[in-house]
Amino acid sequence: MKITVIGSGYVGLVTGACLADTGNHVLCIDLDAGKIDRLRRGEIPIHEPGLDTVVARGLAAGRLRFSTDYAEAVAHAAVAFIAVGTPSDEDGSADLSHVLSAARELGRRMERDTLVIVKSTVPVGTSDKVRAAVQEQLQARGVPHKVSVASNPEFLKEGLAVEDFMRPDRIVVGTDPDDHRAKDIFREMYAPFNRNHERIFFMDVRSAEFTKYASNCMLAVRISFMNELANLADRLKVDIEQVRRGVGADPRIGPHFLYAGAGFGGSCFPKDLRALIHTSEESGEPAELMRAAQNVNLRQRRLLGQKIVAHFGGKLDGRTIALWGLAFKANTDDVREASSIDIIDALLQAGARVRAYDPAALETAATALKGRAGVSLVRSAAEALEGADALAVVTEWLEFRSPDFDDLARRLKSRVLFDGRNLYDPFAVRRAGLVYQGIGRSGVG
Ligand code: UGA
Repeated sequence: MKITVIGSGYVGLVTGACLADTGNHVLCIDLDAGKIDRLRRGEIPIHEPGLDTVVARGLAAGRLRFSTDYAEAVAHAAVAFIAVGTPSDEDGSADLSHVLSAARELGRRMERDTLVIVKSTVPVGTSDKVRAAVQEQLQARGVPHKVSVASNPEFLKEGLAVEDFMRPDRIVVGTDPDDHRAKDIFREMYAPFNRNHERIFFMDVRSAEFTKYASNCMLAVRISFMNELANLADRLKVDIEQVRRGVGADPRIGPHFLYAGAGFGGSCFPKDLRALIHTSEESGEPAELMRAAQNVNLRQRRLLGQKIVAHFGGKLDGRTIALWGLAFKANTDDVREASSIDIIDALLQAGARVRAYDPAALETAATALKGRAGVSLVRSAAEALEGADALAVVTEWLEFRSPDFDDLARRLKSRVLFDGRNLYDPFAVRRAGLVYQGIGRSGVG
């Protein structure tokens, strides 16, 4: 099948590369000429395990191409994904300007009946706006081509994007109920990912759009709830990690996404929460749980910084804190809305110097932290420890999982370890002579 993907960011690039890998001829476009140049050379602009191999295979086979040219993109295929960004607007709503401008560009050039698939995360009703934007252009040109619009939200996680795309739990597809042509296209396109059991959930377009927000917001609420329980556990001398195992063993609850920590970040949960809260309140529903989840998370992102400041009696002048992890989670270089930024700000404000290391996010963090004096970004975990009083672990990278605690005890002047992701066994840390502080773990030992 020939497929066009508009937008070569996270979602568009992974979608395009993976669909080329299963035999389709895919043309990905983006307005960023620099990015397209790099992609043509096989250079991946983001840190995403395995994506380079898939892109290289597509390029070598001639099935994956990149362009900045809309005319070429529209001429290429009768199936076009829109996978452009929907950042938060000032009021929290999703900014649809990129999505609608992509729709207009399509309408301006369409030379045949086309299926437009909205993959960007968009509020309920956006597909209707996309259809209207395309049709307006078609009418202005006086051409008779038909456009059908489908919603096919993406559920891939950063750091596991290729794996998630290739082995999806579910493929949500919203179409008009009688759009059998669109359904056939989806069945054919997703057949390679749909072998052992049926993973496509066909539904109406609005429900598909909503399913994406419902999933992300439910997970966000769940994490905030665990964080709230963890903070209570700290007061009650309970170990949230033991509670997590006990609670997660109930199949109605399940063990995933129950990890208390330094709060959630990234480009999706915070943005999608804001957008659904906005939609909800605009519709006259108060969004109480989602608001609470958002507030709990804003507090949680600051919590580790506050714990460190409190440990040193409110004053950190002359102290150096080592930070392991800047990315909002492991296996990505993404620092958007990362807890590390809030923690660094709290530490700097209390007078500390920070030495921070991340295996992938040093460059992105340098941009995000520009203008903040007192932070050194260093090239290794060991370098971060030089002259440090305490260590705070903020991201659950594999290389931070089993440090030599005896060595840490020798290096850290104040011998204290703040575990923002509950990665360590408090007993093992204490045996080495370090003070251990996790999230919701005051009950251990
Ligand atoms: C999330 C969803 O998981 C994907 O299904 C979705 O497609 C994606 O958003 C999106 O909308 O594009 P992502 O933001 O890549 O994916 O990362 P997650 O693995 O979901 O983690 C989000 C945040 O929650 C991270 O900061 C992570 O540290 C935190 N988290 C996750 C916890 O604090 N506790 C947990 O138990 C799980």
